[in-house]
Amino acid sequence: MDTNQQQLSVNLDPFSLSNIQEPYPYFTRLRKHHPVYWRAENQFWMLSRYKDVKAALQLPALFRSGTGPEILRRAEALPATTANAFNVCYKFWFTTILATDPPQHTTQRIAITKAFTADVIADMRKAIENRVVQLLDAIEEEGEIDFVRSFAHPLPSGVIFDILGIPEESHDTIRQMSMWLTRFPGAVLHGDQQMIENIAERVRAAELVLKSIIALRRKSPSKDLISRLVNEPDPEARMSPDEIMVQVSFLLFAGHETTTNLLSGAMRHLLQQRSLWVELLDTPELLGNAVNELLRFVSPVLWVTRLLSGDHDIDGIVLKSGTRVQLGLGAANHDPEQYSSPETLHLRRENPSSLAFGYGPHYCIGASLAKLEIQISLASLLQRFPNIELNTTTFDYQPAYWMRSLKSLPVRIDG
Ligand code: HEM
Repeated sequence: MDTNQQQLSVNLDPFSLSNIQEPYPYFTRLRKHHPVYWRAENQFWMLSRYKDVKAALQLPALFRSGTGPEILRRAEALPATTANAFNVCYKFWFTTILATDPPQHTTQRIAITKAFTADVIADMRKAIENRVVQLLDAIEEEGEIDFVRSFAHPLPSGVIFDILGIPEESHDTIRQMSMWLTRFPGAVLHGDQQMIENIAERVRAAELVLKSIIALRRKSPSKDLISRLVNEPDPEARMSPDEIMVQVSFLLFAGHETTTNLLSGAMRHLLQQRSLWVELLDTPELLGNAVNELLRFVSPVLWVTRLLSGDHDIDGIVLKSGTRVQLGLGAANHDPEQYSSPETLHLRRENPSSLAFGYGPHYCIGASLAKLEIQISLASLLQRFPNIELNTTTFDYQPAYWMRSLKSLPVRIDG
């Protein structure tokens, strides 16, 4: 059997629905048989061993985050009539902090990190506690709920809107943009002009809203994060209103779906293995370690993308300059070479720290916020609904290969 036949027979397609629904057996196959895998159909490499993924994240000048140039090249095939729509989407996706390299990334990172001051962190705790209480009050009388719709989805977006200082009436416009933008790279790769127009429509609507909020905060600043960014006195950390608009919309995107996935994934596994939920009820001081282990086990972001700026050799296989590389955070976090019994969720694991938030210069800026959200949420759920239980035995995930998002999680809160 030649290599291609072998690959077909073991299904190494990251986009196949069976691999999306059950990624961990797939990651095991990748790590074992093709740890450095050229996915010819999609023109990218896939790395799945902890040591290779971490090494790549430690070489940001070689494994570059600026993947925009490749998309621009692929967009050359689009007709000129799509140019306006393409440009506005490109700005909101490929000039965000996640998709830039130094020196642009350095300024963006200083500006955003500076805005997360001690005051902002303190406000975050308050914002989270208030939102958690509101949401739990609302479900108290319900009996049976979808945990994703009633809690895991609204909590992180509410919190990030509070921190940014975006008024309630604008939430939907900005949420819509965030949801639609995730389809942009795929639409360009597939040459789907109609989809690009549809996305651009949502982006333009959000652009108007954000511009007016930024202008308002410039005139009359408040305590929120947009006000801090707009009125930044340090020239090293100052961004233009346009840049602020793009980064703010990215913060919403980065802080929302990821945290939703962590909350819903954590609840799925803790309730599915009831003994773990009981362990937390009996030993609440385990929560800190449990959150780190849940991050490793759930791995809300499964893959991140890089573009090679030079050749790179792994075990004699040469990854050529200019090619795209997918780094498997989820696969690395379940690598038996790094973690003993990686498929066991072990709340007392001795060193559960993982690559769930990435590593190196693009390490997640919202890591402490996300941890705070899940800690406060789990502590409140354990206290208020100790008898909560799953109301399903099947788990269906959104058809995205790079994020692990449960579509729903039916639970009974009266036990
Ligand atoms: C459980 C929740 C979260 C997970 C699993 C997560 C995961 C990640 C990962 C893996 C990266 C690195 C991406 C890369 O290297 O290409 C990242 C970057 C980032 N995250 Fe998060 N994130 C979470 C929550 C948040 C929150 C709540 C915020 C918002 C405040 C946030 C803001 C960011 C930002 C701004 C970056 C880009 C940093 C940079 O490129 O320098 N994240 N996140």
